[in-house]
This record gives sequence, structure tokens and C-alpha cells, in this order.
Amino acid sequence: GAAALYGPLATVSAKSASRLDSSRMPVPFRQKFVIPPFLAPYKRGIDPGDGQPVNYYRVTEQSTTMEIVPGIKTPILGYNGVFPGPTISNDQGTHAVVTMRNQLPRKHPVLGTPIATSTHLHGSASLPQYDGYASDTTLPGFKKDYHYPNVQDARTLWYHDHGVHFTAQNAYSGLAAMYIIHDPVEKALLPQGEFDIPLAISDIQFQANGSAMYDDHSHSGLWGDVILANGVPWPVMNVKRRIYRFRLLNCSISRSFQFHLSTGDPLIIVATDAGLMPKPQPVREYRHANSERYEFLIDFSRYKPGQEIVLRNKSNPFNIDYNHTDKVMKFVVTDEPFNTNDPTARTIPTVLADSAVMHLARSQSKITRNLQVERKNGEWKLSGKSWADVIASNFQWAWANPGLDDVEIWEIENRSGGWFHPVHIHLVDFHILSRNGKPAFAYEEGPKDVMYVGENEKIQVIMRFEHHKGRYMVHCHNLPHEDHDMMIQFRVGLKEGEFDPNDPIKAARPVWDTP
Ligand code: C2O
Ligand code: CU
Repeated sequence: GAAALYGPLATVSAKSASRLDSSRMPVPFRQKFVIPPFLAPYKRGIDPGDGQPVNYYRVTEQSTTMEIVPGIKTPILGYNGVFPGPTISNDQGTHAVVTMRNQLPRKHPVLGTPIATSTHLHGSASLPQYDGYASDTTLPGFKKDYHYPNVQDARTLWYHDHGVHFTAQNAYSGLAAMYIIHDPVEKALLPQGEFDIPLAISDIQFQANGSAMYDDHSHSGLWGDVILANGVPWPVMNVKRRIYRFRLLNCSISRSFQFHLSTGDPLIIVATDAGLMPKPQPVREYRHANSERYEFLIDFSRYKPGQEIVLRNKSNPFNIDYNHTDKVMKFVVTDEPFNTNDPTARTIPTVLADSAVMHLARSQSKITRNLQVERKNGEWKLSGKSWADVIASNFQWAWANPGLDDVEIWEIENRSGGWFHPVHIHLVDFHILSRNGKPAFAYEEGPKDVMYVGENEKIQVIMRFEHHKGRYMVHCHNLPHEDHDMMIQFRVGLKEGEFDPNDPIKAARPVWDTP
């Protein structure tokens, strides 16, 4: 029965379409910066199991249009009809139940097939469907509840579509949003409220008719020529003369960035994917792969009112006639007042958080596994395998099988030639033990869930497989690579053939929503 839900490998290619004329392209630094809406729970309750508060949310996946380029309506898929979707924010320990309603077209405009989705909370696990298992899809007209325990330390997560073989197109079309967990340590140390800025950066390219162009260059990747900050091309943000915190998510489907400030002043990195680092790391420039999150502080008190500072990217431009991919957004310093008694306004903490994963020692590891990142016969593989092998085994075959609470070292080796791959491991936080036999970059010295595996690099990470049994994915987060078909799974705390009640394939199925 379920097999009918797994679409064939397919591509919506717009190679033959012409690009939007450069005279109609958005001009950098003309548009106003916006922050995506925060989602309010429609109901609050108490979990009868552990007595913890529960916030209930409703999100609807919709096909709509959005004015990204001034004067042009671009078709998008959006959570609640917006891109980025609404941000969900909770305190650690407050559970969230998100009812995800798929109200997307039953006929994809190009493929003619229904747009099936699976929602992954990247950076956590959800119950009982694990966390957006790719093949556990919901069809248009159905809905499903995702349960997020939020037991983890403060961090910037995000939710995005993970529908099997269509993740790249669905996320590129707009199904991506931020998700925040706060905790008391983070609240005491870092800017909050209007000085705590969610910042989702992505790229896009446009066809002459204003719709987004999807060309993944034979599944190599998509590099757009327009850079969006929270869905707005190259915006301008007014800032007060104090310290701001930016939660930067790169939600591009393939592009990595090298961020730096036009002034040469440092970005002070305070958090990696899975939360606060042991101590801040100032950098002039750093490399930020798609799906990674870095939080950094910028101290605007060192500038005069009226001064303009540009967040830049060291771009690797393709052969296009309208190239501003070296720019991201602009800050303009104002003399507007702010509460100077707020200790986070002027002080950069010297010590941040002491995350458990940073203390895992090599001697605790039960096994070191080697994962090869490679390309064979035009398909991307992980140690010679792909999601096709998982499907062929009726979702039983797993590349690794750690026990619950086991510590392991995984060594990821890039044998794919001139490509980099952001490799994401579901369920766990890891610590990068080494990069090519040397220590990780200082700015990566924090809890992570994605690693940038550069050309010919070999990375060792250590992690504990805690919290949940089950089957979880490991994949490349260059999404055209993931879809074709660079994704496999590991099994935690279960024997081969053993199902637990939370198994994604046997657990809660989507339910009929509205006709
Ligand atoms: Cu952000 Cu498996 O994904
Ligand atoms: Cu890849």
C-alpha cells in the first residue's frame, strides 16, 4: 500500500526557460528588512505524562504567491502561505504539538502528481513519527500531528519539508521556517526580543515570467543569483548602537556562504547548530554551509549614527550577467534610544554554555565507523548505498545500528572529487573531533548537527545516540544530492526487523483533513 506514496526520481527543470531580464531584477539595498511572523499557539495544556506545559500549533502548507521581486508575483509553497514560514519559539521543557495540514495541490503544475510532504524539525527528534522520515509522507487533503519534546538546551532549529525525492523542490519553493528553544542560561547571556534576530538566508533565480527557476545542473546543485534575507532580496535593516544577536540559518538548497562584514570587524560566533559554544569565537570571515546555523553577535556601538555596514559573502560567481551574490544585507546605524541597563546591550560574555557533547571522549566510543561520500554512475552515494537501498529493504536495512545511549565516532570521508557536502545526522548532536587530522575550526567548536565536508576532507565526529530508539536518516543537505539519492539510515536501540511502536512506517498515519 505505502509504496504508491514514493514518487519516482524526477526533476522539474527549467533549463529551456529564459531568465528574468536584469532590468527587472531587484536592486540591492532598496528593500526593507523583515522578521518572519512568530506563531501563537491556538491552545495550551498540560502533558498528563510528565506534567509539563504543552503548546498546540496549527500550520497549513499552502500554494500561493509572494512579491519577492517588486512588482512581480512569484508562485511559492509556504507554511501558512509565507516564506520563511512562521517561527515557533518555546522554552526548554514546554512540549509542542504541531498539526501540519497539507493543503497543497493534488496535481503538481509540472509533474502532475500530488505534492506529498514530510515535515522535519531539523535539530530535534519528533514523536511518534521520529522526525520527518522522508518516506513517511502526507498527501494533500491530509494532516498529521508532530510531537516535539523540546527537552534540549537552547538552540536555533528549523523545520522544512523532507518529502522523499522532492525535498529540494519543496524546500526551494518555500517550505522552510525557524524554530527556537530558549533556556535560562541563554536568556541571561545573550540579547533577547527585538535584539535577537532570526535570519534565514537563501538564494533563488527567476524565470522571465517571474516564477522561480529550478535547474539543479544534473543533480549537482542549484545556485541562485538573488540572495534573500528572510525572503527579501538584499534588505536594509536599521539598528541601534548596541550589541545584536543574529540566528543565521542558511536555508539555501545548495549554496554555502563565506560571511564577513564590509568594515572588517569581527562576527562574534556564540552558537553552532545545536546550541551555545563553550566560549565566543570572533571571526573576520567564516564558511557557512546550507542547513547549518551559526549565531553571532555584532557590536553596533562602535559605529556612528548614519554609518552603513554590509554583511557580505565571498562569492564564487557563476557566469551570469547580474551578479550581486557578494552582498547579503545592509545595516544602517541609528541614534534611536534603547535600555542601556540591559547587560546584553554592551557586554559580550566570556563564557557561554557547557554542553555535554563537548565532553565526550574518544575512550567512550564503542566503535569508529567510516562513511564514504561519493558519486557513482551519476548518482550520489554514501558508502555505495542510497535511499533506494532502504526502500528496497522495506525500510529495514540500516548502515549502522548503535544501541540506545551508545557513544560512537563516525569518520566521514569525501571521495567525490571537486564537491563539498554538508552531511547531516538526524537525532543527535555531535562534536567535531578532527578535520583532516587537525582540530576543527575554532568557530565550529560547539555542538553541531551538520558538518561541512570539503573537497577531499576527512572529518571525525563523536556523538551519543540518546533520547529515542528508532530509525533515523543521515544524508547530504545539498538537497539535489539528497534527492538523488545521497541518504541512508541508522537504527538506534532496535534489532533488525524489530519495530517499535513509534516506527515511522507503522505509527500514526496521516488523517483525512478536509475534502
Ligand atoms: Cu534539515 Cu534530514 O534535514
Ligand atoms: Cu552532497
